[in-house]
Amino acid sequence: MRAQDLVDALLVCGVYAAFCGWIAWSWRRQQQAAQQRALALLPAAPGQDFWWVCHASQTGQAEDIATQTAQLLHQAGVPVRLQSLGQLRAGDLQPGQRLLCVASTYGEGDPPDSAMPFVQRLMSDAALDLSQLHVGVLALGDRTYTQFCGFGRALASWLGERGAQPLFDPIEVDRNDAAALQQWRLQLARLAGTSDLPDWQAPAFERWQLQARRHLNPGSQGEPVHHLELRPAPGQALPNWQAGDLVQLEVPAAPGAPRDYSIASVPADGAVHLLVRRTRRSDGSPGLASGWLTQALEEGGGLNLRLRAHTGFRIGDNDARPLILIGNGTGLAGLRAHMRGRLAVAGHLADADRVPRPACVAPMWLLFGERQSHCDAYYREEIEAWARQGWLSQLDWVFSRDQAERRYVQHALMDAAGRLRVWVLGGAAIYVCGSLEGMAAEVDRTLGEILGEALLQQLLAEGRYRRDVY
Ligand SMILES: Cc1cc2nc3c(=O)[nH]c(=O)nc-3n(C[C@H](O)[C@H](O)[C@H](O)COP(=O)(O)OP(=O)(O)OC[C@H]3O[C@@H](n4cnc5c(N)ncnc54)[C@H](O)[C@@H]3O)c2cc1C
Ligand SMILES: Cc1cc2nc3c(=O)[nH]c(=O)nc-3n(C[C@H](O)[C@H](O)[C@H](O)COP(=O)(O)O)c2cc1C
Repeated sequence: MRAQDLVDALLVCGVYAAFCGWIAWSWRRQQQAAQQRALALLPAAPGQDFWWVCHASQTGQAEDIATQTAQLLHQAGVPVRLQSLGQLRAGDLQPGQRLLCVASTYGEGDPPDSAMPFVQRLMSDAALDLSQLHVGVLALGDRTYTQFCGFGRALASWLGERGAQPLFDPIEVDRNDAAALQQWRLQLARLAGTSDLPDWQAPAFERWQLQARRHLNPGSQGEPVHHLELRPAPGQALPNWQAGDLVQLEVPAAPGAPRDYSIASVPADGAVHLLVRRTRRSDGSPGLASGWLTQALEEGGGLNLRLRAHTGFRIGDNDARPLILIGNGTGLAGLRAHMRGRLAVAGHLADADRVPRPACVAPMWLLFGERQSHCDAYYREEIEAWARQGWLSQLDWVFSRDQAERRYVQHALMDAAGRLRVWVLGGAAIYVCGSLEGMAAEVDRTLGEILGEALLQQLLAEGRYRRDVY
């Protein structure tokens, strides 16, 4: 090697190391800012009494309401500590303390993933005595599910069985019902001994525009899937979000019932990308939101949208870990955001199809399931280019209808059980996005079989098993 080549190589390495250092520094700053916000709610003096405000949240609504609850109480002079219910230990609860819980329900009456450590550690402990504790429960749910507020109700009755004293009857919220939320606010005001708690600030919807739309699966046996690109209305700046976050859209045909979609892009893309499947209702008509988004809404047309932080599906402190990304159908949206997020942080969002993954960037493994390879491999070109350059060191397309017997992601996962164990023992985090019933439940069962339930629960508790499933 010529001396000049060596100097060039050292220079490139130096610049790269500085870049990696800068990324790590800005990440630490973000973490510190989040910590500062949390600290602002902490009791002033060590040993001072405080109230617990805990959330059990899957997609962030319960967490938002718990955060606002903590802020309102803090403003009223009540020292509070805000935390996920799943992180609460029996020893954290002191006699005489107050515990306010905001709890949503998932699956068919199930607890959100983040609450599982609490369910397994505390709710299974029949000897736990909470008779010195004063509690209030706000249960979030949706009456279209048979087990309305299933987990919130189970939590409230378990607290009662363990002797906890209710501060008021559990309050149940059907799809963000404003009257129920107002009742919660009034109870907080009463408990805090104040009459002037500020109003709830529901995050505002902003005006956005559909810039472009592309039909991704012509010829598919499934319903049409579209790639959408959305930008803020002219003159408005692109807001910030993180891979894993959601958008919530107002639907003209369904006022008061906004729909959630997983974001498939990162801010460096300059637009919110969505992957939307037109659903079909039982009478054969198109779904209200998905029909409008994929058909009736014209390119250039406006829509009302708000971004929703989905902390449970963000990268969090998995940013340096290998990622195992598992999904089906439109679930590719949330996984694509994570792939693009990793490329963006490495500074290679634009050229990852040509530039090999540097050794200091942890690899990714994508397992994605759809029906037929010739029409349902969304984003095939970019994904295969990333695989060629090693950003994805493993890529499994799993097509259920390319062969006689049906084959799904959980089957591919089971076939790769040895590799899965090696990745997880090597520190990998698992992200699952897509349908809850069709895919995520089977993937969860298969992961439990391969890794053992204890390890899977440990990964969940450590934030190394995250899901955006619907
Ligand atoms: C966290 C999350 C992420 C999601 N990500 C994606 C994604 O990336 N891509 C994707 O394609 N889909 C995604 N979805 C599903 C999406 O939110 C919609 O449910 C889906 O598009 C179907 O909505 P629709 O209005 O077209 O169907 P519809 O059948 O018209 O409505 C679906 C449901 O909305 C309710 N509903 C219907 N009509 C009304 C009404 N008039 N008033 C009140 N409620 C009503 C009912 O509960 C009904 O079952 C996600 C869902 C969640 C929860
Ligand atoms: C896949 C899925 C399953 C759900 N299952 C239930 C249920 O069984 N019972 C219920 O009352 N609500 C159910 N819900 C509604 C949520 O509990 C409700 O939307 C809640 O506000 C979500 O809060 P979170 O964002 O904090 O998780 C479900 C929602 C989704 C998307």
